[in-house]
Amino acid sequence: MVRGARCAPGAGTDVNATTPEGSASAARIPRHLAIVMDGNGRWAEQRHRPRSFGHRAGQKAVREAVEFCLRQRIEALTLFAFSSENWRRPQDEVGALMELFLKALDKETDELHGHGVRVRFVGDLTAFAEPLRQRMQAAMAKTAGNTALALNVCVNYGGRWDIAQAARRAAEAVARGELTADAIDERTLAPYLSLADLPPPDLFIRTGGEHRISNFLLWQIAYAELYFTDTLWPDVDQACLQRALDDYAGRQRRYGRTGAQVAQAS
Ligand code: IPE
Ligand code: IPE
Ligand code: MG
Repeated sequence: MVRGARCAPGAGTDVNATTPEGSASAARIPRHLAIVMDGNGRWAEQRHRPRSFGHRAGQKAVREAVEFCLRQRIEALTLFAFSSENWRRPQDEVGALMELFLKALDKETDELHGHGVRVRFVGDLTAFAEPLRQRMQAAMAKTAGNTALALNVCVNYGGRWDIAQAARRAAEAVARGELTADAIDERTLAPYLSLADLPPPDLFIRTGGEHRISNFLLWQIAYAELYFTDTLWPDVDQACLQRALDDYAGRQRRYGRTGAQVAQAS
């Protein structure tokens, strides 16, 4: 594998130097990493292969990302695998993706379980065919007690859907008399959103060169640090992810305060 050539670390970045234990940037490792895994189609097209070939190749990068998070002791990894808009793609590509999800579930669940990964599928799962839904539910049930890494796979997910379903569930709570309409604010709505039990993403990575959110976690990334790389998803390896973490470690997160206030508090 031509790792260095595909995803060369930046000047002065030692891929092996930053580990959670004993490194100066230990406190600067994100607790929650969210990734838009983009570029599979272009990766395949560059090789004159069908787009589905790129999606299959992308599975290896998913394994790399999971391994990386386990090594770095990152608490949560949220991957955008299929958006609520991706149904608009040609039917054969959607079909190939569903087939791939099915196979991946059969192939990877035991291994993830063995590594202590808790897997959750996030999105409107009602749109999927029954065999796929059943496997998703089985993988979630099997790994529910694991604590090494919370892996969230967003499928038929949209950030707007998420906010709308939260509003609907809050309205249902109002109808049941458990909540009053005038008590609905950011704090009382937050528990109804997906991933509410996890810290919000600290670092948002999008691969594949596009600089957009594409309806990913709109609410949850309000204060995430954004990182974009041109590397196409199938080419992403641990060195590439390390480079994003090194960049993150140099950011100052101000949450509305001044730089001086933040410097004083730390
Ligand atoms: C991301 O890669 C994977 C999915 C959306 C399922 P793309 O398939 O969007 O790849 P490009 O952007 O066309 O290269
Ligand atoms: C976003 O990528 C969705 C996933 C990575 C699953 P897209 O490739 O679908 O996004 P757009 O259409 O270019 O915005
Ligand atoms: Mg794309």
